[in-house]
Amino acid sequence: MLILGIETSCDETAAALVADGKVVLSNVIATQLDLLKKFGGVVPEIAARRHTELIGYVIKEAVDSAGKTLADVEAIAVTSKQGLIGCLLVGVAAAKSLSYSLRVPLIGVHHIEGHIFANLLSNPQIPMPHICLTVSGGHTMLVYVQDYCQYELLGSTLDDAAGEAFDKIAKFLGLGFPGGPAIDNLSIHGSRKAFNFPRPLLRANTLDFSFSGLKTSVINAFKKRIANNEVLPLEDIAASFQEAIVDVLVSKTLRAASQRKVSAVSVTGGVSANRRLREVSLDTCQQVGIEVFFPELSLCTDNAAMIAAAGYARLRQGEAANLSLNVLPTALLEV
Ligand code: KG4
Ligand code: ZN
Repeated sequence: MLILGIETSCDETAAALVADGKVVLSNVIATQLDLLKKFGGVVPEIAARRHTELIGYVIKEAVDSAGKTLADVEAIAVTSKQGLIGCLLVGVAAAKSLSYSLRVPLIGVHHIEGHIFANLLSNPQIPMPHICLTVSGGHTMLVYVQDYCQYELLGSTLDDAAGEAFDKIAKFLGLGFPGGPAIDNLSIHGSRKAFNFPRPLLRANTLDFSFSGLKTSVINAFKKRIANNEVLPLEDIAASFQEAIVDVLVSKTLRAASQRKVSAVSVTGGVSANRRLREVSLDTCQQVGIEVFFPELSLCTDNAAMIAAAGYARLRQGEAANLSLNVLPTALLEV
């Protein structure tokens, strides 16, 4: 079954064609990097307007570059849950009109479920059940993936998402946007032990996360150096900050794996591209005999192939939406 996936939940306008939920025929992503750089982050109203300008072209490009026509599309999957309301509405409106005019089924997908499927697209061998850590600019979640489309949320962030912390610290340090890749690159030249930044909630008896205190601690360390006219070791700050985040993410993921007695973990979302996170996850998981999986880099950040893959799984379970499909910006991940 050939599914057209559409994703517009935040700042990426994306469309993809995926066959049978497994084979990615095209994966087109138009980023709004120019706007992000100009405004230092996502401005919801402006992002939604940009989606309306791009969505038609992006869908056409996804179909053309796959060597298909719209007549070949057998279903439409669209992100309808979790994201910025105006942005989600653009994708859902496009999906509805295509579903109606092509007379093919429509399915609404939760954005986080999409990220879970991004890793399943790259690594179809990930066993069920497993623990999935979804880390991106908008979310930090630990999910028990019991089976396809069966989830239990074990923990999430109480304040900033991990990617958001990367972005805010990078902005503060003048490293530009998006901050994750900038800190990832700068950290290579820094000392991970130069600053002993806090690991929030690391020892607490919870699988929730909190990153705002860490952020404040980094900012305070930075300001103290400035006040004392000391040289600012930006590389060291970046590497030590990254180490604190990675430490917390990996420790909690392994704790969840141990509590649920699973033999595999999946790390997904924009931050899963982080080299140090991959390195520490691989090392630590190997030590305790747990398999760890990451999506290929093109599927880490927001994309529509993951939405098509998740939509395929839901359609196979007999689910389908109709033209009353609405957007749910704060919907929880449901079974
Ligand atoms: O999944 P995504 O595209 O969007 C959301 O759903 O939020 O993730 C974007 C986030 C940004 O915060 C970005 O800084 C972060 O992923 N990111 C990274 C890296 N690449 C992207 N964070 C750390 N290291 C990276 N290499
Ligand atoms: Zn995302």
